[in-house]
Order: sequence, then structure tokens, then C-alpha cells
Amino acid sequence: MDTIPELANLKPAMLDAGTVFSGKPSGIKVRGYATASAYTPAIDKDFMFHDGCRDVIVWLLNPAEPLYVYGPVGCSKTTTIKQLAARLNYPVFEVTGHGRLEFADLAGHFTVQHGNMAYEYGPLALAMRYGGLLLFNEIDLTSPEVAAGLNSVLDGSPLCISENGGELIRPHPMFRFAATANTNGGGDDTGLFQGVQRQNAAFLDRFTLCEMGYPDADVETSLLAKRFPALPPGLCEKMVSYANEVRNLFMGTATTDAISNSIEITFSTRSLLRWGELALRYQPLARQGIQPITFALDRALAFRASRETRAMLHELARRVFPQEAMHNASDTQAQETMSGQTAIDYVRQRLASGSTAAYACIFR
Ligand SMILES: Nc1ncnc2c1ncn2[C@@H]1O[C@H](COP(=O)(O)OP(=O)(O)OP(=O)(O)O)[C@@H](O)[C@H]1O
Ligand SMILES: [Mg+2]
Repeated sequence: MDTIPELANLKPAMLDAGTVFSGKPSGIKVRGYATASAYTPAIDKDFMFHDGCRDVIVWLLNPAEPLYVYGPVGCSKTTTIKQLAARLNYPVFEVTGHGRLEFADLAGHFTVQHGNMAYEYGPLALAMRYGGLLLFNEIDLTSPEVAAGLNSVLDGSPLCISENGGELIRPHPMFRFAATANTNGGGDDTGLFQGVQRQNAAFLDRFTLCEMGYPDADVETSLLAKRFPALPPGLCEKMVSYANEVRNLFMGTATTDAISNSIEITFSTRSLLRWGELALRYQPLARQGIQPITFALDRALAFRASRETRAMLHELARRVFPQEAMHNASDTQAQETMSGQTAIDYVRQRLASGSTAAYACIFR
């Protein structure tokens, strides 16, 4: 395959980690590239680095073993790695695991080019050859046989492409390998992550592990406010505390034992941002007497839930967000009939009593 000049001409550089990640010089150096390329992810200026990013930054600071980041749905595993890479001008080659992924999808395969057969490198070969970051998302969906085929590459050995006359691709010193997944590779016993496969122990043993959770409430609140400046700040706070309560109920960490694991869906940062956007989009519905927050909640999350869970989510929302919340932020507190913790306690009591019939009126 022809050389890709844009990648071949990239100049490695030692960058100041503080300047790159937070804007303040730190004296700590991190390897990156002097300039971005077409393969470098675009910088999202609104991306907020949070505690969960720390492990990934430490990993980038030290030329290290492959990294395996796992954590709940939509907590920013993929985005964090891409945004950190973007600030280091790293070319990123992304691949998503699935049950039918084959090794050739990573290494490369023959294609017809200008009437002739030519070998085309896959993302792994490109990242190894040019010193890029291979970002392997949902790696736990990959069949363990295929994943274990990466073992020698993960050890730092060259990639041997037998189909291409035994071409040997030696790993560039800047080559990095990062994987993301919803499980730690040990399989899924919740039944929520259909398609996840228990991975080979020797394969998993080659990674530095990092667990990532949802960003803290203050980070998510600022994130909502930054992305959607038209949302009143008090409302952003409430939406985040609502999302956190849903997460607690999902994780079974709610205070009443009887409602442990009582709901089957959780609130990802992704869904939270969608909720913010939809809440603004549906704001005109308030004039017709429809609560935009609840209407948006259905479309952002609750339609995915069982009937009982959806009823519970509505009941909680009805009490946390008064009808006029979007109209006049300063009136919000006064108009609440039941706020924050009181509303949550109320719903917990209803769940603990096992009564869901009371919520039937919520479905119109
Ligand atoms: N700290 C943050 N700053 C800005 N945006 C964020 C932040 N955290 C999450 N997001 C947004 O949340 C969404 C979900 O992030 P992402 O896709 O990286 O999550 P994930 O953990 O990889 O999800 P999955 O489990 O589905 O793979 C993205 O649209 C991202 O832009
Ligand atoms: Mg992801």
C-alpha cells in the first residue's frame, strides 16, 4: 500500500501536559504531535475533563501498556480518550467490536484499486505503522478468539500480515492501544449488555485497567449549562440530581432495600444531554399545558423503560419539575409542590409499597 504522506510526515513533539489539558503550564511533558492531521479528532471546546479522565491522562503521560477503560453506558469513555488524543494532535483509528468482527477488519485486506488487487491496511496496521492511537470501542463484544489474536501486538511485537507476503509492521514508538467497554471483560451477568462475550484471561491480562463512572454533579451541571445556555441554571441542577437518583435506583444503591435494583434503565450523560436539548425544543408545548420536561424525558429515556419504571420516572419528574419550570426560572422554587429529596422519598415509599396502580393516571 502507498504511503499516506500526511501521516508519514507527522512530527512527534513533547508537549506540556498542563497547557494541553487545562490551559495552565505544568512542566510535565507528554508525547504528542506538533500538528493535527485529518485523522486527529476535532477538539470539542465544551468537553469538560473530570476525575474520570485522570487515569487516561496518567496513561498517556507514560509510554505504557494497552489501556482498557470500562464503565456504565454513555459516561464518556470514548469521548474522553478522543478528546485527550485531539489535544495531543494524535491520529486516532477507531474500530467498534462486534460478534462478527474478524482479524482482517483490524489488520487489513485485499481490495480492487484501479483494476488491480491491492492490500489495504486496516486501522490496526495504520496505527502501528504511523504511530497513531487505535481506539477499540466495545471490545467486549468481540469474539474472544479474535481478540486473543491481538495478544502478541499487545505485547509490543510486530504485526505480521501473511496475506501481504508476510509484511512485518513494527510498532511505531508512538503507537498506542486503548479499548473501551461496558464490562471488565469478565462477561455480563446483568443481561443488559446483550452480545457481550467473556474474554480470554490471558488477553485481559495484557491491559492496564481503568474504571470510569459518570462525571460529578457539578461537572454535569456545567456541561448542560454550557451546551444549552437557554436552560435556567437551577433547572440544570435539578435535571442532574434527577439523573443521579435514577442511577442510584438502577444500581440498587437507593436507601430502601425493598427497591434495590428496582429499575432496569439508567441515565447516561448522553441521555442527559439529549434530555436538555429536547426540553428546549419542546418548550413551546408548555403553552398547550404539556410539561416540556416530562415530554422530553420520555423521548430522551423513559420510552425505553418498562411501563412500571416509566410511571415511576414520570411521578418523580412531576414533583421535581413544576409545570412552569421553563417559563420563569426565578419562580421555579416557589411553584414547587414537592422538591428534590422530598419527591425522591415519596417515590421510594411508593415503590417500597409495591403499588404501581396509583401511577396509572400518568399514562394518557
Ligand atoms: N465531560 C464531558 N464533556 C462533554 N461531553 C461529554 C462529557 N461526558 C460525556 N459527554 C457527552 O456524552 C456523550 C456520551 O459519551 P461517550 O459516547 O464517550 O460515552 P461512552 O461511555 O463511550 O458510551 P458507551 O458506553 O455507549 O460506549 C457524548 O456525546 C459526549 O459528547
Ligand atoms: Mg463508547
